[in-house]
Amino acid sequence: MASWGPGRADITEDDDEDPVAIPDLWQLRDQTALTQAATLRHRSIGDDAPLALAIRQETQILHANRERSRPPRELAWALAMYLYSLEPPAHATIVADASITRGRTIFERDCTSCHSDPNGAGPPIAAADIGTDPALANGSSRGTGLYRPAPLTAVRDAAPYLHHGVVPTLEDLLGPARLRPTYTRGAHGPGPIAGHSFGTELAPSARADLIAYLHTR
Ligand code: HEC
Repeated sequence: MASWGPGRADITEDDDEDPVAIPDLWQLRDQTALTQAATLRHRSIGDDAPLALAIRQETQILHANRERSRPPRELAWALAMYLYSLEPPAHATIVADASITRGRTIFERDCTSCHSDPNGAGPPIAAADIGTDPALANGSSRGTGLYRPAPLTAVRDAAPYLHHGVVPTLEDLLGPARLRPTYTRGAHGPGPIAGHSFGTELAPSARADLIAYLHTR
């Protein structure tokens, strides 16, 4: 497990190792699905009361205690309220420029068909259509066959990228080198990182504009 890197867990419950990145918890209150495979729908969306999350916390605490003791309701509620309070790291001041404006146009053209919510997430998509490693989506006990478009809140600070946390930078994620057999920068060792090829066919200057825009989110 030490070789997986920090913030990873294998929750697929099959016999091989499929470490995935533990999702960022900032602005959880705005997320419609609570895990990358969209295992849990987050129903109190648009409502400041964290009821759905509190019930989920209670279940998790119960399981963690092998169902020997039920936590006080106040504890699950307080944990959920705390999670709702988590905000991403503060932005440096952003000066609007032409590159950011061009990048926003590219984002709206190429990305918002999936990243459609104000926070950049969106309805879950069939894993086969995204083409990233399907182990989590197809996991035996929690698999849904789906991946949620990752929320893009503070995406500049959310590396490493994708549900398994294997891509080190936005330049790598949105560039073509990652898809080739010669790629060596993946967290799980040398070799291509398949899937989510959106943006990889952009001209380098357009990709730089797109990344400049993503840094403002
Ligand atoms: C067909 C739907 C779809 C399109 C189009 C799409 N994405 Fe995604 N995006 C996803 C899904 C689903 C994931 C999560 C995939 C995974 O983790 O395996 C994702 C993940 C990401 C991530 C990783 C975020 C993180 O924290 O790990 C970034 C960044 C991203 N997309 C940016 C973009 C950009 C920029 C575009 C446009 C060039 C784009 N996406 C187009 C569906 C899409």
